[in-house]
Amino acid sequence: MDTSTVAVITGASRGLGLAMAGQLLAAGATVITLARGTSPALAETAQRHGARLQQLQADLSRPASIESAAGLMSAALPGGASHYLLLNNAGTVDPVSLTNGLFDAESIETAFNLNVVAAMVLTAAFLRSTPPDADRRIVNISSGAGRSPTAGWPVYCATKAALDHYTRVLAEENPHLRVAAVAPGVIDTDMQIHIRGSDRGQFPDLDRFLQLHEQGQLASPESTASRILQHVASDRFGHEILDDIRNYDIPSQT
Ligand SMILES: NC(=O)c1ccc[n+]([C@@H]2O[C@H](COP(=O)([O-])OP(=O)(O)OC[C@H]3O[C@@H](n4cnc5c(N)ncnc54)[C@H](OP(=O)(O)O)[C@@H]3O)[C@@H](O)[C@H]2O)c1
Repeated sequence: MDTSTVAVITGASRGLGLAMAGQLLAAGATVITLARGTSPALAETAQRHGARLQQLQADLSRPASIESAAGLMSAALPGGASHYLLLNNAGTVDPVSLTNGLFDAESIETAFNLNVVAAMVLTAAFLRSTPPDADRRIVNISSGAGRSPTAGWPVYCATKAALDHYTRVLAEENPHLRVAAVAPGVIDTDMQIHIRGSDRGQFPDLDRFLQLHEQGQLASPESTASRILQHVASDRFGHEILDDIRNYDIPSQT
């Protein structure tokens, strides 16, 4: 990833997305971000490295806002680059609830909008707004939860499984693109703080996540970002559509 790369990243105001955006800017890439908030640190990084950054503010959990964000992203995408990268990273683990407590349809819809619908609509806009002859790569940040069931996360598991299967269709339709749904492992972000605050009655696996934290087994967002970006830039990216960064022995460069 270098000055010839244009990258779009959702959920880059915090956590894994922020780390990936910062590393792309440091490499000189042009970066467009989408989240409800913006990051002053990211703006400083862009300035320090003389890289172009546009932080678009959008609530990607609401259909109308997703559609207008897709339009803004398309308008912001510069032509003429040789590499285009879309990182659908924004996500939520909520609502955390056993299946027999899932009465709040709106909270379920919000999660599907953010974790699945936004990725679909932004991908369509990305495909229409980038040159077909460029090197175009799409990364959908998934989760191990989409591949093995976790009690208390019926909605999160279902959204990530949907994102995984959507990615397989995307790959099937577009053999010339490099795409993958990448599980990033357990990362020390706000999402993990939120998970550790879960109600044990609704999330029976709570102790496992408390232990992972206590034992220092969470990866830093920076190291995970570094490993994902190296993988995405490599020739082997896209060979595994349902991918997991933990399957690769890639040293972090941070
Ligand atoms: N952390 C982990 O252990 C872990 C494990 C497996 C998979 N993942 C996946 O990795 C991705 C990143 O997770 P993370 O841990 O970095 O999460 P995080 O720290 O909670 O950050 C989430 C990001 O998504 C954005 N976001 C949340 N709601 C949004 C909305 N309605 N509209 C637009 N943006 C929104 C947030 O920005 P704003 O609040 O500014 O909108 C923030 O930038 C997610 O897809 C998650 O499922 C994480």
